[in-house]
Amino acid sequence: MAEQDTKVTAAYSGNEEVYPPSDSFRSKAHVASMEEYEEMWQRSVDDPESFWREKADRIDWFEPFETVKNVSYEPRNVSIKWYEEGVLNACYNAVDRHLDERADQTAFIYEPNDPNTEEAQHITYAELHENVCKFANILKKNGVKKGDRVTIYLPMIPAAAYAMLACARIGAPHSVVFAGFSPDSLSDRILDCESTFLITADEGVRATKTVPLKENADQALEKCPDVETVLVVQRTGGDIDWTEGRDIWYHEELSTVDAECECEPMNAEDPLFILYTSGSTGKPKGVLHTTGGYCVFTSLTHEYVFDYHEGDVFWCTADVGWITGHSYIVYGPLINGATQVFFEGTPTYPDASRLWDVVDKHDVNIFYTAPTAIRALMRQGDEYVEKTDRSSLRVLGTVGEPINPEAWRWYYNKVGNGKCPIVDTWWQTETGGIMITPLPGAVAQKPGAASKPFFGIQPEVVDNAGNIQEGACEGVLTIADSWPGQMRTVYKNHERFQNTYFSQFPGKYFTGDGCRRDEDGYYWITGRVDDVLNVSGHRIGTAELESALVAHDQVAEAAVVGFPHEVKGQGIYAYVTLLKDVDPSEELRDELVQYVREHIGPIAKPDFIQFTPSLPKTRSGKIMRRIIRKIAAGEFDDLGDTSTLADPGVVEELIDERKGMS
Ligand code: WT7
Repeated sequence: MAEQDTKVTAAYSGNEEVYPPSDSFRSKAHVASMEEYEEMWQRSVDDPESFWREKADRIDWFEPFETVKNVSYEPRNVSIKWYEEGVLNACYNAVDRHLDERADQTAFIYEPNDPNTEEAQHITYAELHENVCKFANILKKNGVKKGDRVTIYLPMIPAAAYAMLACARIGAPHSVVFAGFSPDSLSDRILDCESTFLITADEGVRATKTVPLKENADQALEKCPDVETVLVVQRTGGDIDWTEGRDIWYHEELSTVDAECECEPMNAEDPLFILYTSGSTGKPKGVLHTTGGYCVFTSLTHEYVFDYHEGDVFWCTADVGWITGHSYIVYGPLINGATQVFFEGTPTYPDASRLWDVVDKHDVNIFYTAPTAIRALMRQGDEYVEKTDRSSLRVLGTVGEPINPEAWRWYYNKVGNGKCPIVDTWWQTETGGIMITPLPGAVAQKPGAASKPFFGIQPEVVDNAGNIQEGACEGVLTIADSWPGQMRTVYKNHERFQNTYFSQFPGKYFTGDGCRRDEDGYYWITGRVDDVLNVSGHRIGTAELESALVAHDQVAEAAVVGFPHEVKGQGIYAYVTLLKDVDPSEELRDELVQYVREHIGPIAKPDFIQFTPSLPKTRSGKIMRRIIRKIAAGEFDDLGDTSTLADPGVVEELIDERKGMS
């Protein structure tokens, strides 16, 4: 009989399903009851200074801070500083400080793409230290200095973590570009942060395919004349082009450097990294995170949210190219001295049991993944789960998008055998770490609810006019005050930072998400309220997709919206108007799909392209997205007010075309 499988509704107002933590889980949990959680949360928001002063003790400081928090959310003068006099080094906290106690403990278990041809590798903290020091010396030897931005375009191999930590060690902010991005996306990011140093690999491997990373990089660098050095990690040994005087091999450099490298003392507010993410307008923005607050926040959330204990094996399936990989593979867990699986593979290769095989192989206790992966595996059938053991699992987590209750139940009952709490963690690239989540030993879970704010986090639901909503309500999610892991600026564009996050609702951080709060004070994230799509947990701006489409020489206009997709959460639906003398065809449709893929990356591939002679617009020429969203979703009956349209007839045409497609 499953320990946690009882439905308890009495203590909760709704009659929905509620899954309270089991007594056996609670008996070992860091936070073991709702009362304890509420008491701690209240204290953390009543007196944030003392709460965050105390929590900052968890990391090692070279020089102490005096001021805990110095924040202004004033819309024209936003300034966010935490622990501002403190001096520390993130790499020292993630690696060096563990050497006395856990030099021989495994930091990473690298699980390669193909389990049939390659063995897992255990990398101890001592080995991690050596690799990171050598990597840092390679950077220094090749001219990288404190403050220089280093772009990293690598697959999920341990060298990606070494590279990030090496940058942190010498004080050079890293900008990791997900290896699934195209040459254009890579060059945009290199140019924006003005990096002159790029780290890549010959090729990446994903299931049965290879990804031509060096070739992509070569192409990107045609537009980046300032890049002086390309450090290439050998993954496959495949054939690549070589530019003498620019390209250098990592394995050759390794033999020329020594294994000692001092950690650069960094101010708490010195940049740690830049990570690009999509917004509702324009090009992706460089989200800038700094050092002190980020280290405190990621390590604290990692410990509490996953109820991490010494000796646990933690596995976050994200790629280090996303914030989840930064915060819950590289920084948070390593700062806590954890042992982690570092996974290069995919959930369905060699077959749909892969994730659970890896759980069994390495006795994983805490497993963190995205709803899209759960939905994809659920469709493959239960037998792939049932033939594995999974008894090592204690906590399950999800991130990236709302999880539908059906997928939640499957994850809970099938994967977790009805005994593992699920933490549905809501957060963003901008927030640096987890913001809303049930703490697994304290907060009863409701399938689909991100639940309750983490310590120090004050969500506020507002209506469009900014009025604060009380009690059970629905509206826009804002956060009333700062927390240590918050982004500090948009790289080189503080104006954009202020406009995007602090101008809509003065005095609050605007998340871009809608949410509902129920009678028990649980938060249910309902999705983006701006023109940002969430496709398989990946964030893509409709503006980026549209500008990629109109760059094609046969396209006159394009409008992109999301639509509900069974596996991806949201799919990409593009309305395309061709130039006058161009006829729509299947070939052109395929060509456009390919075109977007090449310009942004495979994750941005449109699911549907609907050719249309015109789009519904207001008299002032604004596309009515509300209407085209409904048509894409196949909801034709309730289109709302169409009276402001310049030409209402367009809607009928669009509907007819849409019906003709499916
Ligand atoms: C957006 C942020 C944070 C790491 C992964 C994504 C959506 C994220 C949840 C969740 C519902 C979620 C939001 C958010 N989102 N987690 N548990 N429930 N929605 O980071 O690329 O910065 O995207 O992802 O819409 O704003 P990101």
